[in-house]
Amino acid sequence: MVSSSSSGYGLLFCLLILLLVPFRSHSADPDPLQDFCLANLNATSSVNGFPCKPVSAVTSEDFFFNGLSVEGNTSNVFDAAVTSANVFSFPGLNTQGMSMNRVDFATGGLNAPHSHPRSSEIGVVIKGKLLVGFVTTDNVFHSKVLTVGQMFVIPRGLVHFQRNVGKGKALAFTAFNSHFPGAVVLPTALFASTPPLPNEVLTKAFQVEDQVVNSIRSKFGA
Ligand code: GLV
Ligand code: MN
Repeated sequence: MVSSSSSGYGLLFCLLILLLVPFRSHSADPDPLQDFCLANLNATSSVNGFPCKPVSAVTSEDFFFNGLSVEGNTSNVFDAAVTSANVFSFPGLNTQGMSMNRVDFATGGLNAPHSHPRSSEIGVVIKGKLLVGFVTTDNVFHSKVLTVGQMFVIPRGLVHFQRNVGKGKALAFTAFNSHFPGAVVLPTALFASTPPLPNEVLTKAFQVEDQVVNSIRSKFGA
């Protein structure tokens, strides 16, 4: 026999599930309230996106962007380059809840471990061979080597990377459910911040001596 208190809890549980279901389908960014809102980049950023440029000033050009047609400069410590089509470089994305990156890799290049606080990520390999991996909040590492046309998904906020494991250059395009996903790049966030994190935090966190921390910092010119 079911007691009235347990059936009450059951009802409450069902109501809770019903209340939560609509939120599961929400994108990372809020839904737009108009067809478009071309970002006025000269205005100060407001809570969610930029104020709109007046409709009378909008032209067709505002809806097109060729910034991802150009190969990024991979001459850096990671031998990789991320070129972003986000609300800052492509203001037409303002409030649309999406953006893209082009990621170029020289031989052996690494898109260093990073996370996107405001977005999930989906990607496709266009050229070469990439080892793609991410770590869950339970510290489980998922990874796979992908070739041309193969895709990956990185759940929102999880630390991930791509490494060029092919013989020549590699290229991937990635997409986000946010017009400005943000990126916390772990090596630079931890070892090249302004001002620097205290050495005692890093030596304790990584169980190493000061000289190791200083050596890592020096690689980033910090
Ligand atoms: C790849 O991880 C990217 O953020 O574009
Ligand atoms: Mn990423």
